[in-house]
Amino acid sequence: MNDRSNLFNRWAKGYDDTVRAATGFPFAGYNRVSDEIVHLAVPDAGMRVLDLGTGTGNLAVRFAAIGCTVTGVDFSGEMLAAARRKVPNARFVRGNVTRSLDFLGDERFDLIVSAYVFHEFDLSTKVFILGRLAREYLTQRGRIVIGDIAHPRVIEREEAHRRWAAQWDEEEHYRAADEALAGCEEAGLLVRYVQLSCCGGMLST
Ligand SMILES: C[S@@+](CC[C@H](N)C(=O)[O-])C[C@H]1O[C@@H](n2cnc3c(N)ncnc32)[C@H](O)[C@@H]1O
Repeated sequence: MNDRSNLFNRWAKGYDDTVRAATGFPFAGYNRVSDEIVHLAVPDAGMRVLDLGTGTGNLAVRFAAIGCTVTGVDFSGEMLAAARRKVPNARFVRGNVTRSLDFLGDERFDLIVSAYVFHEFDLSTKVFILGRLAREYLTQRGRIVIGDIAHPRVIEREEAHRRWAAQWDEEEHYRAADEALAGCEEAGLLVRYVQLSCCGGMLST
């Protein structure tokens, strides 16, 4: 699909081992972030859940186990193949979430969730995606919950950049909550932020 999807295709086989073993940047607190996404989403059996950048399905499997109807989207075919093996009762669709989401049709979701994906997008793209999801794909009482690599403020992100320089991917856009909240507010989106680990945090509507 594009260069970044190839990178994820190559990573698919070893991905679960990487995140399970993680103690430092960028995946420290990976399980805690996923736990908290589920907690804040307050899922119930029968709810329709959209998981953006579903990867190998580690978040999707949690919602499917509760009895939710899960749709996972990802642009990596190899990641999706692993997700299909892990969560056979979910629907997985190949697509780039920065482009048209027409493949979702008219469906609206009670919960839209995502883990460790939004750092792929610069701030204006993050806000664009969130606005579109809120307007076009969320039910009226639905919730969006996003966990990702994040720091409370720009100053902490700069400190982390110096500390983790060897692991820092200069093509990615790690979130500073103060920046993200201001951008969301400007776009008319009211969101909350919680820091969960040295480099993991949550945005929720
Ligand atoms: C770090 S993995 C996170 C996977 C999973 N959500 C998790 O928590 O383990 C990032 C995933 O986002 C997907 N991704 C990145 N950019 C994307 C885009 N523009 N559209 C769709 N998927 C994307 C990648 O293919 C990869 O599977």
